Amino acid sequence: MPESIAEWTTAIALLLLLMYVIREYVVPYYKGLKRVPEASVWPYFGDTARVFGDGEKLMVERFQQHGPAFSTWILGKRTTVVGSLDMMKMLLNMEHDLVEGDWPTSTKLMLGKGSVSVVTGALHVRLRKLLKPAFSMSGIANMIPKLAAIAEQCLSKWADEGQIKGMLATKEFTFRVILELVFGMGPDRLTPELLERCHKAFVMWDANLFSFPVNLPGFGFHQGMKARKVLADIVKDNIQHIREHISRRDGDASSASSTLAEGLYVEFDKEENPLTLDDMADTFINLLFAGHDTTAHTIARLLSELPRHPDIWERLSMEQTAVIAEHGTAFSTASLKAMTYLEAVMKETQRRYPIVGGVFRKALRSFELPGRYHIPKGRLMFLCLGHALKYDTRWAGHTGKLAPDQFNPERWLSEEGQKTGAFLPFGSGLRMCVGYLLAQAEMKVFMAVLVRGYAYTPQDVQEPWTTWPVGGYPVNGMPLHLERL
Ligand code: HEM
Repeated sequence: MPESIAEWTTAIALLLLLMYVIREYVVPYYKGLKRVPEASVWPYFGDTARVFGDGEKLMVERFQQHGPAFSTWILGKRTTVVGSLDMMKMLLNMEHDLVEGDWPTSTKLMLGKGSVSVVTGALHVRLRKLLKPAFSMSGIANMIPKLAAIAEQCLSKWADEGQIKGMLATKEFTFRVILELVFGMGPDRLTPELLERCHKAFVMWDANLFSFPVNLPGFGFHQGMKARKVLADIVKDNIQHIREHISRRDGDASSASSTLAEGLYVEFDKEENPLTLDDMADTFINLLFAGHDTTAHTIARLLSELPRHPDIWERLSMEQTAVIAEHGTAFSTASLKAMTYLEAVMKETQRRYPIVGGVFRKALRSFELPGRYHIPKGRLMFLCLGHALKYDTRWAGHTGKLAPDQFNPERWLSEEGQKTGAFLPFGSGLRMCVGYLLAQAEMKVFMAVLVRGYAYTPQDVQEPWTTWPVGGYPVNGMPLHLERL
């Protein structure tokens, strides 16, 4: 029998540990559940290098070897990776109940504890509610002419330059969209110096978003956190500026919101317990992270693909002629809706080149995953959205033009394309992409402005893409010649 308080404490702690181990690791298997197969990797490092290197190939290999789920280590955490659509749908739709959004430690710290991607439970629901009006269909509708103006300014400037790098160009476009429309930085504030400073900080921050969380000089994470401070200062300064601008205006501020940013700030400040400046800054940095590279990469992938398919370009051009005849040259929700072929082209680009390969979740409690797999409480999970997109069963049995590896927008206009499948480029459930309507409008407007008034010739039609950084990069940055028609 234990005699002292220390002995009693140790005995109780051991008993609780034993009960936990029995509940989590013995009972489920006794009930017939299966352990998720383990990949044979080194603890802590595990598959990290390959997930962020040739993740796509790795997943195909591992799923072939282990079935639809396997456990490994990613960025220092034990992680269960899932690749089947039914598993993913269940997890995405049970947010805040079975699972909650989670990220590797470095990513959480870099995004900031108050950002919408990081917060969980009631706070997440509250932030989503605040963001909803600005990113709704009507919120985006007001922004369409501004999107077209930014696209036109960018393309016109690049045509004057003649020779440009396609990858940098698309990033310039989407960076401007976030800074001007989402942050609300007008030309009066967004000086070339500020743009440069912001861009430099973003690049350093972004490069170290997925790193080992060691905050010591010489480590990527340390550099990233320093860049984050620069970004946060710029964002906070801008929030103060917009608030002053809104309070100087007469009448109801919300009805007078002329940019998506103003709508956002009005919602943020309307709350009974307004968000702190730090929390607002976290969410704006989050919007930059979530909305800039994702959209730029998708457009760049299409720019690199199109020269290999002159027939698709021709059809896009014919569609624009028809849309102009019906809706005039101005862009609106109605004219964007009429661009059904462009929509199929964008969907095909997202299917073939998904920029968000996967999303992280943490198990809030132990549960059973389809296939009778046991998931212990606290387990980090990685849901391979990209894998599901590519291996959508709708195309699995097809050969020829509908084969999964073919770039063919027609598939989305076919009977199969109308059926429900594994098309989750923006995720699903309570964490589905906040900005998907903006992203769709942005990509369509950019491509429509390009097709209507410009032509481009890449230096190398077959330029390969690297697998790192996440989403890949054309090895030479996609040099191309752009001219006005
Ligand atoms: C092609 C472009 C884009 C793609 C493919 C994309 C994809 C995604 C995906 C898959 C998620 C779900 C993450 C999860 O389940 O954990 C997500 C979340 C998010 N996206 Fe996007 N996105 C794009 C553009 C944008 C844009 C333009 C914005 C806003 C400016 C944006 C803002 C967000 C935010 C804030 C979240 C976090 C939502 C939450 O955790 O509740 N995204 N995005």
